[in-house]
Amino acid sequence: MHATNQRTQVAIVGAGPAGLMLSHLLALSGIDSVVIDLRERADIEATIRAGILEQGTVDLMVGTGVGDRILAQGTRHDGIELRTRGESRRIDLPGLSGRSVYLYPQHEVLKDLIAARLEQGGDLRLGVSEVSVHDVTTDTPAVHFTDADGARVELSCAVVAGCDGTRGLTRSLIPRPPRVEHSRTYPYGWFGILTEAPPSSEELVYADSEHGFALISSRSPTVQRMYFQCEPGEDAGAWSEERIWSELRARVNGDGFALKEGPIIQRGVIPMRSHVCEPMSHGRLYLAGDAAHVVPPTGAKGLNLAVADVAVLAQALERHFHQAASDLLDSYGLTALRRVWRAQHFSWWMTSMLHTEVGKDLFEDRRRRAELDLVTGSEAGRTLLAENYTGAPITLTNPESVFAEALEATARHTL
Ligand code: PHB
Repeated sequence: MHATNQRTQVAIVGAGPAGLMLSHLLALSGIDSVVIDLRERADIEATIRAGILEQGTVDLMVGTGVGDRILAQGTRHDGIELRTRGESRRIDLPGLSGRSVYLYPQHEVLKDLIAARLEQGGDLRLGVSEVSVHDVTTDTPAVHFTDADGARVELSCAVVAGCDGTRGLTRSLIPRPPRVEHSRTYPYGWFGILTEAPPSSEELVYADSEHGFALISSRSPTVQRMYFQCEPGEDAGAWSEERIWSELRARVNGDGFALKEGPIIQRGVIPMRSHVCEPMSHGRLYLAGDAAHVVPPTGAKGLNLAVADVAVLAQALERHFHQAASDLLDSYGLTALRRVWRAQHFSWWMTSMLHTEVGKDLFEDRRRRAELDLVTGSEAGRTLLAENYTGAPITLTNPESVFAEALEATARHTL
């Protein structure tokens, strides 16, 4: 079939948080991009993921004009509760770290970014198929695909951004060596539900109990999000509503606290995995977000890391296209990986501190609880948790960046 030749500066593979935010930031700087994705808009906007935005993510989105709905409809959270053995210990986020977090589900972020790109004439090609990426080690890479109308397109570009998630194709374009993949699979999963009920708590509750971990979060005044630790291969469909509620009750109720229950309207089991691909670039291919790294959901860092990656990548691309210097592109992977490994550590730490393999290793269980006491029992411990939970400012590497001011705001929130 005859293919149409097209050209852009940055071909972005994947319209998740990383790809859409990258295209948004580049557009502010006058850099052209085309975003392609196998999924249709409705599928992308229905992706159910965690709901916590770090202060820096919010500052960057607000500062670049895509944060209105976060401020209007998201909820600022100034604390989280850690419950252990039925007793609540609050972590005062702004009091300890100078920053808060915002409860605003990931699919709402995706809706906002897609709407903003379309409103500004951004080039999104959704529902494409037969994607292949070529010649990333030359000056003329290209992405080939069949568009939603069945036409073949050969898109040549200067740079390819691999934002196609953990099961995407771009990571595998980095040969081994140099590619190394670091992975941890945890011996448990999360059973997640949405329930039609009023909130049980104003703040998120992370509960450690002898039955295992549970997390009480929210989506709106009438819909709540809850999770509990389960076997990794658990069949969510096999559980009766009563069995789900009795598991949650056993893990969080007590000390005057009781869950508000309602009909369960959605359920699923989420695997718990940590993964990092090094290096994050090869030739003119740069990976960002889940294409390069995955965190378990305990710290809610996934989307925030994707946003931090593309903020660093967009600054490097500004330098490349506007100042004809490749230094920031060359150091992109190393700059991004510092934050990635910090978030990997935090997510692993939160996960291992809050989950127990019920009845398996009592020494490990008591050690873990002592660690929870250590962290919640001193201001130094609580500060460490609060600073990491709310997230570090996003690195400003290019002072000439058109969004430098928004990045500076991510640092201003720190006490
Ligand atoms: C969520 O609301 O889905 C959520 C919140 C906090 C987490 C993970 C998930 O750590």
